[in-house]
Amino acid sequence: MTATCLALPVESIEDKTTAIIDELIDSLPDPNQLTSEERRGIIARYTSVLEGNFIYWMTAAVIATRAEQSRPILLDNLYEEVHDCHPLMLRKFAIAANAFPTDKDPWAVHDDLTRVRQFMGRLSPVRLVLMMGFFEGFIQKFMSYLAHLAAEQGSMEMEYTDVHGVCDIEHTEGLFKVLAAEIALTPPEPDKDLFEGVTLLRTLIEQIIRPGSAVSDTHSPVRSEEQGQASQEDRQRRTRI
Ligand SMILES: [Fe+2]
Repeated sequence: MTATCLALPVESIEDKTTAIIDELIDSLPDPNQLTSEERRGIIARYTSVLEGNFIYWMTAAVIATRAEQSRPILLDNLYEEVHDCHPLMLRKFAIAANAFPTDKDPWAVHDDLTRVRQFMGRLSPVRLVLMMGFFEGFIQKFMSYLAHLAAEQGSMEMEYTDVHGVCDIEHTEGLFKVLAAEIALTPPEPDKDLFEGVTLLRTLIEQIIRPGSAVSDTHSPVRSEEQGQASQEDRQRRTRI
Protein backbone atom coordinates (compact mmCIF):
# COMPACT_ATOMS: atom_id res chain seq x y z
CA MET A 1 0.00 0.00 0.00
CA THR A 2 1.48 3.37 -0.97
CA ALA A 3 1.65 6.48 1.19
CA THR A 4 -0.73 8.23 -1.23
CA CYS A 5 -3.52 5.74 -0.85
CA LEU A 6 -3.05 5.79 2.93
CA ALA A 7 -3.26 9.58 3.13
CA LEU A 8 -6.93 9.81 2.27
CA PRO A 9 -8.35 7.39 4.85
CA VAL A 10 -6.32 8.98 7.68
CA GLU A 11 -7.39 12.44 6.58
CA SER A 12 -11.02 11.44 6.49
CA ILE A 13 -10.72 9.75 9.89
CA GLU A 14 -9.21 12.96 11.27
CA ASP A 15 -11.99 15.04 9.71
CA LYS A 16 -14.65 12.79 11.21
CA THR A 17 -12.92 12.98 14.61
CA THR A 18 -12.79 16.78 14.42
CA ALA A 19 -16.49 16.85 13.55
CA ILE A 20 -17.31 14.71 16.62
CA ILE A 21 -15.21 17.01 18.82
CA ASP A 22 -16.88 20.13 17.42
CA GLU A 23 -20.33 18.63 17.94
CA LEU A 24 -19.42 17.85 21.55
CA ILE A 25 -18.04 21.35 22.15
CA ASP A 26 -21.12 22.93 20.57
CA SER A 27 -23.36 20.92 22.91
CA LEU A 28 -21.74 22.27 26.10
CA PRO A 29 -24.17 24.11 28.37
CA ASP A 30 -23.70 27.85 28.79
CA PRO A 31 -21.60 28.30 31.98
CA ASN A 32 -23.62 31.36 32.91
CA GLN A 33 -26.81 29.31 32.87
CA LEU A 34 -25.40 26.67 35.23
CA THR A 35 -25.66 26.73 39.00
CA SER A 36 -22.47 26.92 41.01
CA GLU A 37 -22.93 23.25 41.98
CA GLU A 38 -23.32 22.25 38.32
CA ARG A 39 -20.13 24.10 37.41
CA ARG A 40 -18.32 22.52 40.34
CA GLY A 41 -19.54 19.10 39.29
CA ILE A 42 -18.21 19.37 35.74
CA ILE A 43 -14.75 20.43 36.95
CA ALA A 44 -14.77 17.74 39.65
CA ARG A 45 -15.81 14.88 37.34
CA TYR A 46 -13.34 16.00 34.68
CA THR A 47 -10.59 16.01 37.33
CA SER A 48 -11.70 12.67 38.66
CA VAL A 49 -11.32 11.11 35.19
CA LEU A 50 -8.23 12.93 33.91
CA GLU A 51 -5.97 13.09 36.93
CA GLY A 52 -5.53 9.38 37.37
CA ASN A 53 -6.15 8.09 33.87
CA PHE A 54 -4.53 10.25 31.24
CA ILE A 55 -0.95 9.05 31.78
CA TYR A 56 -2.19 5.47 32.17
CA TRP A 57 -4.05 5.66 28.84
CA MET A 58 -1.14 7.27 27.01
CA THR A 59 1.07 4.51 28.44
CA ALA A 60 -1.40 1.97 27.02
CA ALA A 61 -0.91 3.63 23.63
CA VAL A 62 2.87 3.14 23.95
CA ILE A 63 2.36 -0.52 24.81
CA ALA A 64 -0.18 -1.09 22.01
CA THR A 65 1.54 0.62 19.08
CA ARG A 66 3.92 -1.24 16.83
CA ALA A 67 5.21 1.16 14.18
CA GLU A 68 8.79 2.38 14.59
CA GLN A 69 7.86 6.07 14.46
CA SER A 70 5.00 5.80 17.00
CA ARG A 71 6.91 5.34 20.23
CA PRO A 72 9.07 8.54 20.14
CA ILE A 73 5.97 10.69 19.53
CA LEU A 74 4.00 9.07 22.35
CA LEU A 75 6.98 9.11 24.72
CA ASP A 76 7.47 12.85 24.09
CA ASN A 77 3.88 13.36 25.16
CA LEU A 78 4.38 11.22 28.27
CA TYR A 79 7.67 12.96 29.10
CA GLU A 80 5.88 16.30 29.23
CA GLU A 81 3.06 14.87 31.35
CA VAL A 82 5.49 13.45 33.90
CA HIS A 83 8.25 16.10 33.81
CA ASP A 84 5.83 19.04 34.12
CA CYS A 85 3.64 17.09 36.55
CA HIS A 86 0.34 17.66 34.78
CA PRO A 87 -1.69 15.68 37.35
CA LEU A 88 -0.61 18.17 40.04
CA MET A 89 -1.41 21.06 37.70
CA LEU A 90 -4.93 19.68 37.30
CA ARG A 91 -5.31 19.07 41.02
CA LYS A 92 -4.31 22.68 41.76
CA PHE A 93 -6.82 23.86 39.15
CA ALA A 94 -9.65 21.88 40.77
CA ILE A 95 -8.76 22.88 44.33
CA ALA A 96 -8.59 26.59 43.41
CA ALA A 97 -12.08 26.34 41.89
CA ASN A 98 -13.38 24.59 45.03
CA ALA A 99 -14.10 21.64 42.80
CA PHE A 100 -11.81 18.89 44.05
CA PRO A 101 -13.75 15.64 43.57
CA THR A 102 -15.82 14.41 46.49
CA ASP A 103 -16.91 10.79 46.83
CA LYS A 104 -19.99 11.30 44.63
CA ASP A 105 -18.01 12.57 41.61
CA PRO A 106 -16.07 9.38 40.74
CA TRP A 107 -19.28 7.38 41.21
CA ALA A 108 -21.11 9.54 38.67
CA VAL A 109 -18.66 8.46 35.95
CA HIS A 110 -17.87 4.99 37.25
CA ASP A 111 -19.67 2.86 34.67
CA ASP A 112 -18.52 4.79 31.61
CA LEU A 113 -14.97 5.03 32.91
CA THR A 114 -14.95 1.27 33.44
CA ARG A 115 -16.03 0.69 29.83
CA VAL A 116 -13.20 2.89 28.56
CA ARG A 117 -10.69 1.09 30.80
CA GLN A 118 -11.84 -2.30 29.56
CA PHE A 119 -11.53 -1.09 25.98
CA MET A 120 -7.99 0.15 26.69
CA GLY A 121 -7.08 -3.27 28.06
CA ARG A 122 -7.61 -4.81 24.64
CA LEU A 123 -4.64 -2.75 23.39
CA SER A 124 -5.93 -2.39 19.84
CA PRO A 125 -3.33 -0.03 18.31
CA VAL A 126 -5.38 1.81 15.69
CA ARG A 127 -8.57 2.22 17.72
CA LEU A 128 -6.69 3.12 20.90
CA VAL A 129 -4.53 5.77 19.20
CA LEU A 130 -7.62 7.19 17.47
CA MET A 131 -9.32 7.45 20.85
CA MET A 132 -6.32 9.32 22.28
CA GLY A 133 -6.20 11.63 19.24
CA PHE A 134 -9.86 12.40 19.85
CA PHE A 135 -9.11 12.95 23.55
CA GLU A 136 -6.23 15.36 22.95
CA GLY A 137 -8.25 17.25 20.34
CA PHE A 138 -11.22 17.50 22.69
CA ILE A 139 -9.12 18.61 25.67
CA GLN A 140 -7.48 21.37 23.64
CA LYS A 141 -10.84 22.80 22.54
CA PHE A 142 -12.44 22.22 25.96
CA MET A 143 -9.86 24.30 27.86
CA SER A 144 -11.43 27.71 27.33
CA TYR A 145 -14.77 26.32 28.52
CA LEU A 146 -13.17 24.71 31.60
CA ALA A 147 -11.35 27.98 32.38
CA HIS A 148 -14.66 29.84 32.07
CA LEU A 149 -16.28 27.46 34.58
CA ALA A 150 -13.39 27.93 37.02
CA ALA A 151 -13.48 31.72 36.63
CA GLU A 152 -17.22 31.68 37.39
CA GLN A 153 -16.33 29.74 40.55
CA GLY A 154 -14.02 32.60 41.53
CA SER A 155 -10.71 30.96 40.62
CA MET A 156 -7.74 32.66 39.00
CA GLU A 157 -5.58 29.50 38.85
CA MET A 158 -5.42 28.83 35.11
CA GLU A 159 -2.05 27.16 34.54
CA TYR A 160 -3.67 23.83 33.60
CA THR A 161 -6.06 25.30 31.04
CA ASP A 162 -3.43 27.70 29.64
CA VAL A 163 -0.89 24.92 29.11
CA HIS A 164 -3.35 22.42 27.59
CA GLY A 165 -5.01 24.90 25.29
CA VAL A 166 -1.64 25.21 23.56
CA CYS A 167 0.40 22.01 23.94
CA ASP A 168 -2.46 19.71 22.98
CA ILE A 169 -2.55 21.14 19.45
CA GLU A 170 0.88 19.61 18.85
CA HIS A 171 -0.07 16.47 20.76
CA THR A 172 -3.16 15.96 18.59
CA GLU A 173 -1.10 16.33 15.41
CA GLY A 174 1.43 13.83 16.80
CA LEU A 175 -1.28 11.29 17.54
CA PHE A 176 -2.65 11.48 14.01
CA LYS A 177 0.89 10.86 12.70
CA VAL A 178 1.00 7.79 14.95
CA LEU A 179 -2.43 6.77 13.66
CA ALA A 180 -1.21 6.96 10.05
CA ALA A 181 1.84 4.85 10.92
CA GLU A 182 -0.23 2.23 12.73
CA ILE A 183 -2.79 2.01 9.92
CA ALA A 184 0.04 1.56 7.43
CA LEU A 185 1.51 -1.26 9.50
CA THR A 186 -1.73 -3.02 10.41
CA PRO A 187 -4.58 -1.85 8.18
CA PRO A 188 -7.83 -2.27 10.13
CA GLU A 189 -10.33 -4.82 8.95
CA PRO A 190 -13.14 -3.08 7.02
CA ASP A 191 -15.90 -4.51 9.21
CA LYS A 192 -14.32 -3.29 12.47
CA ASP A 193 -15.61 -0.10 14.10
CA LEU A 194 -12.56 2.15 14.21
CA PHE A 195 -14.43 4.65 16.35
CA GLU A 196 -15.32 2.19 19.12
CA GLY A 197 -12.97 3.87 21.63
CA VAL A 198 -13.98 7.34 20.48
CA THR A 199 -17.64 6.49 21.09
CA LEU A 200 -16.94 5.10 24.56
CA LEU A 201 -14.86 8.12 25.52
CA ARG A 202 -17.41 10.52 24.09
CA THR A 203 -20.08 8.87 26.26
CA LEU A 204 -17.81 9.27 29.30
CA ILE A 205 -17.26 12.96 28.49
CA GLU A 206 -21.02 13.45 28.12
CA GLN A 207 -21.40 11.91 31.55
CA ILE A 208 -18.85 14.39 32.91
CA ILE A 209 -20.90 17.23 31.45
CA ARG A 210 -24.41 15.94 32.17
CA PRO A 211 -24.27 13.28 34.87
CA GLY A 212 -27.15 10.89 35.22
CA SER A 213 -28.22 10.95 31.58
CA ALA A 214 -27.45 7.26 31.15
CA VAL A 215 -26.86 6.17 34.72
CA SER A 216 -28.85 3.47 36.42
CA ASP A 217 -30.38 4.15 39.83
CA THR A 218 -27.77 2.00 41.46
CA HIS A 219 -24.95 4.24 40.31
CA SER A 220 -26.54 7.67 40.31
CA PRO A 221 -24.70 10.44 42.18
CA VAL A 222 -27.62 10.78 44.57
CA ARG A 223 -27.63 7.11 45.36
CA SER A 224 -23.86 7.17 45.70
CA GLU A 225 -24.12 9.99 48.22
CA GLU A 226 -26.66 8.01 50.17
CA GLN A 227 -24.27 5.11 50.07
CA GLY A 228 -21.51 7.25 51.54
CA GLN A 229 -21.44 5.31 54.78
CA ALA A 230 -21.53 1.91 53.11
CA SER A 231 -18.43 -0.19 53.25
CA GLN A 232 -16.09 -0.25 50.25
CA GLU A 233 -16.59 -3.98 49.91
CA ASP A 234 -20.33 -3.51 49.75
CA ARG A 235 -19.98 -0.90 47.02
CA GLN A 236 -17.71 -3.09 44.94
CA ARG A 237 -20.16 -5.94 45.11
CA ARG A 238 -23.03 -3.71 44.00
CA THR A 239 -21.17 -2.16 41.10
CA ARG A 240 -19.28 -5.20 39.80
CA ILE A 241 -19.52 -5.43 36.02
FE1 LIG B 1 -1.46 17.05 30.28
